[in-house]
Amino acid sequence: MAKLTIREVDLRGKRVLVRVDYNVPIEEKDGQMVVTDVTRIRETLPTIEALIAQGASLILAAHLGRPKGKRDATMTLAPVAAKLGELLGRPVHFANDCVGPEVESAATALKQGEVLLLENVRFHAEEEANDPAFAERLARVADAYVNDAFGSAHRAHASTEGVARVIARRGGLCVAGLLMDRELRFLGDELEDPARPFVVILGGAKVSDKITVIDRLLEKADTILVGGAMAYTFRLAQGRRIGKSLVEPERVEVAKAALAKAAERKVQFLLPMDDVIAVPVPTDKLDKKGRPVVDYQNLRVNATPDCPDDAAGYDIGPATVGAYAAVVAKARTILWNGPMGLFEDKRFAEGTFAVARAVAQATQAGAKSIIGGGDSVKALNKAGLGAQVTFMSTGGGASLEFLEGAVLPGVAALADQACCCGGH
Ligand code: 3PG
Repeated sequence: MAKLTIREVDLRGKRVLVRVDYNVPIEEKDGQMVVTDVTRIRETLPTIEALIAQGASLILAAHLGRPKGKRDATMTLAPVAAKLGELLGRPVHFANDCVGPEVESAATALKQGEVLLLENVRFHAEEEANDPAFAERLARVADAYVNDAFGSAHRAHASTEGVARVIARRGGLCVAGLLMDRELRFLGDELEDPARPFVVILGGAKVSDKITVIDRLLEKADTILVGGAMAYTFRLAQGRRIGKSLVEPERVEVAKAALAKAAERKVQFLLPMDDVIAVPVPTDKLDKKGRPVVDYQNLRVNATPDCPDDAAGYDIGPATVGAYAAVVAKARTILWNGPMGLFEDKRFAEGTFAVARAVAQATQAGAKSIIGGGDSVKALNKAGLGAQVTFMSTGGGASLEFLEGAVLPGVAALADQACCCGGH
């Protein structure tokens, strides 16, 4: 059932705890911590501005990284508070913690329309444990709760779930923010009864990450286009040679079952017919993130669905790009989740970028295009086409779980449209 949103309630004069997902990339530049992608912050502005216009005072709660219940200076939200203030065009107060007497007095001192961002909730182990006493402490500062953190809604944590239960029990309103509402609409309602043809593009490394989504979308899609390393598990299921390509042999049976279901339901299920391959040669170097650097030798297009034993596939090939683009051009609804190859390396980016261009063109021609978060959003932005699709999710794991049909705990804890009693 649809969730009640801030549009339908009046939070004037209320102290509102707003859960946002500000788990954003931060890097050190010239001795300063800088937010390198503001998308998740920018996407919460409509909710924050609407609440300010309503005359609420705002206490924002968020997490950053995985500090495992301990204070960690590299994961402070202080740089995010500065960036939010800049984007909002008004000062944003910052509290050094998310619970405790200082937070309570800062929250009480807030005037209507003022904004306070709390420090990383994950500095307390009780957050991820969804500890009821911690949820009570978080709830102490608020009359009402708004969840705009779709990206964290798959986590049953104190700030995403427990606190909503506490506030609802007290009779306070617990509603969705505008970003949360958009996410639920595009990834949920819009795909319930999509305009056809409905084309799904799925990529990424592993079949195991996507199999539940594939299974569910086989009930709805007209065509599924597969790319990324997960295509090799399907190829293996078809008895093809996959060389040294990334593969999950233990998922071959699952892949076979998906192929059989596609045939039975008459869903067009396309796998790459060619790919960009190379011979991977390990080096003794590590990249910036400490991962081993691989050298790619004898890079070439392999025009067959079989990969030589000494090589591995890293991108879809030009014939596949042509075939997939032709299908996308006819689509009226497109859902894309997962890149077509190792797009972070420009030698293997063309397949993903070409699909991004095809999706942008189809959108211009009238199709609705929904990008299911994570790496596909990164790829689209890298291709400079982020603004040319209908909707890009801010969720990663949350989008995937939602597309799988899971009930997200952070959503379940919010009040339903039909009733605004703060319950369900
Ligand atoms: C995300 O970036 O996907 C969300 O913020 C959730 O983060 P988590 O996977 O650390 O819970």
